[in-house]
Amino acid sequence: MMRRAKLAAVLLAGLLASALAACEREPASDSTAGAPAAAASAPVGASSAKGVGTSTVGALAPEPRGDAARGRELAKKRECHRCHGGLDLEPVDTTRHCVACHSEVLAGKFDHEPDAKRWRKNVAHLFAVPSLASVGARLDYSWLVHFLAEPRDLRPRLEPTMPRLGLDAQEARDLAAYLVSQGKPAGAATASAATGGATAAASTATSTAGGATLAASPGGAGADALAGADEARGRKLVDAFQCGACHRMSGTALLAGGTELDAGKRETRAAVMLAPDLRHVRARMSPGALVAWLLDPLAMKPDTLMPRTPMTPEQARDIAAFLMHTALADESLPAAPVPLPLLDRKVTFDEVKARVLDVTCRHCHGDPDTALGDGGPGNSGGFGFSARGVNLTSYEHLQAGYLDASGERKSLFGKLADGTPRIVAAMWARHREVAGKPDRELRGMPLGLPPVPPADIQLFATWVAQGRPR
Ligand code: HEC
Ligand code: HEC
Ligand code: HEC
Ligand code: HEC
Repeated sequence: MMRRAKLAAVLLAGLLASALAACEREPASDSTAGAPAAAASAPVGASSAKGVGTSTVGALAPEPRGDAARGRELAKKRECHRCHGGLDLEPVDTTRHCVACHSEVLAGKFDHEPDAKRWRKNVAHLFAVPSLASVGARLDYSWLVHFLAEPRDLRPRLEPTMPRLGLDAQEARDLAAYLVSQGKPAGAATASAATGGATAAASTATSTAGGATLAASPGGAGADALAGADEARGRKLVDAFQCGACHRMSGTALLAGGTELDAGKRETRAAVMLAPDLRHVRARMSPGALVAWLLDPLAMKPDTLMPRTPMTPEQARDIAAFLMHTALADESLPAAPVPLPLLDRKVTFDEVKARVLDVTCRHCHGDPDTALGDGGPGNSGGFGFSARGVNLTSYEHLQAGYLDASGERKSLFGKLADGTPRIVAAMWARHREVAGKPDRELRGMPLGLPPVPPADIQLFATWVAQGRPR
């Protein structure tokens, strides 16, 4: 424990030193030399070669069933456990674990460090991420395949999303097979036995047409689990139990205890941040698993932050009927903002650095020379991405560009077909991902994190258009 804390502190000091020193220092001419070598030895970005990773719908078919052992290897390679707990993989050290280190910073474990106060103030994301413990008892295999290949936002009050890792259909199936093989604690055994073989059939129906199809599906055990349950009574119970204090269910009237989302207000209570939008339940869970969850969430997932609400099995079935069957309005995602026109004032690199690059970018596009050799997932590689050599810590490094799929250095300012410089386009692409319109050619940046505000992208674009003055 002590040793890990010390290591983490060293790494932090390195991170921060790099941020400060980078501005004054000429980049060592070989500072990125390691990157091409790495890119050449590793098969170049599986993802980049295949495109950013939105497979066609046909290719996403959950069958043939994935291979759990291959999925486990893939989970290691993709470093799922740098963000997620609850998997049976060898734990990642805090010096590399995004969520563990951020949590420790916020919990004051580094308070002996001179910069601890500022760090604590600045860590805004990736301290609460759902654990994947006993995911197999809760979440449906085909839903997992779709989600992994094309992640979408699930939790209205959690700002980060699952990053688009560019998994192809086979990888998504293997990972999903691995995940469903994970942990089925004793409490869940009866529930999964009750719905057993019908789960797959039921879930296909629910993911396309919702509960109505499920109820109508002939002889499905899924339907039996809720036979005779009353959706209207379920809604009243959800309101009486104040489930809305943590959950929203978009597409239906606001749940009692809830408030409209306030975009300007950041949520910091983990139990609320991690509560999913209940509209997705019908695609994610079988009726049997849902009833078991409602009766005793902790028995199903020991590390969950959802408290147990005492209720009778009949009440649980009524609530499940409401969650599974109530009519939902179409999902309304925020529209992506229209790019703003360039500013007509001079913009300096210092402004761009302070308002864009230092806020999130440099944490994944760091300087390996000053961070114990690891420049982060966007530079040295990580989450299964090969080294792309993008260092966003200083003016010189920014000019040095990125490694494309064939390992060749290209400019980050090269113009795409519509004339937008690549790095600017990547920031707009993140807005489109949040709006549910992921780009096939370009991965949104910052990866899986809230988009850069339009006015800050405008500032960056203006600086590029002005010839990128120092
Ligand atoms: C950079 C951090 C990060 C990495 C790496 C990551 N995830 Fe996630 N993942 C998230 C976040 C954040 C969410 C919550 C998204 C939401 O609720 O909208 C999430 C959600 C999920 C969910 C849904 C869980 C639930 O209860 O809703 C699954 C399944 C999942 N991730 C699997 C994976 C797998 C498999 C990998 C590795 C291939 C992986 N993740 C890598 C951050 C990460
Ligand atoms: C050794 C501890 C440590 C690890 C590991 C770590 N971080 Fe951080 N991170 C920090 C600290 C400390 C800050 C605040 C730095 C500051 O004040 O400048 C921070 C800030 C950030 C920020 C900007 C603030 C925010 O929350 O948006 C991002 C983004 C970020 N980290 C992403 C990551 C990702 C992604 C990973 C995993 C690949 C990661 N970090 C791993 C310690 C860590
Ligand atoms: C204190 C906050 C809190 C309250 C109150 C709460 N939940 Fe939850 N709920 C959560 C969290 C957090 C999760 C995510 C569980 C996890 O993966 O660990 C969750 C998960 C769920 C899920 C699984 C959804 C999915 O898509 O995975 C359902 C269903 C659910 N809650 C229903 C309810 C109902 C019904 C009530 C009221 C009886 C309720 N919750 C009360 C926090 C809460
Ligand atoms: C959570 C980590 C993370 C954060 C934060 C992040 N990036 Fe990235 N970035 C990556 C990864 C990983 C890759 C490599 C992706 C790939 O190979 O497809 C990448 C690649 C890139 C690329 C090259 C991709 C291409 O093909 O054009 C650009 C440009 C980029 N990032 C810009 C940014 C900018 C600008 C920011 C801040 C607004 C940022 N990134 C923040 C992880 C991150």
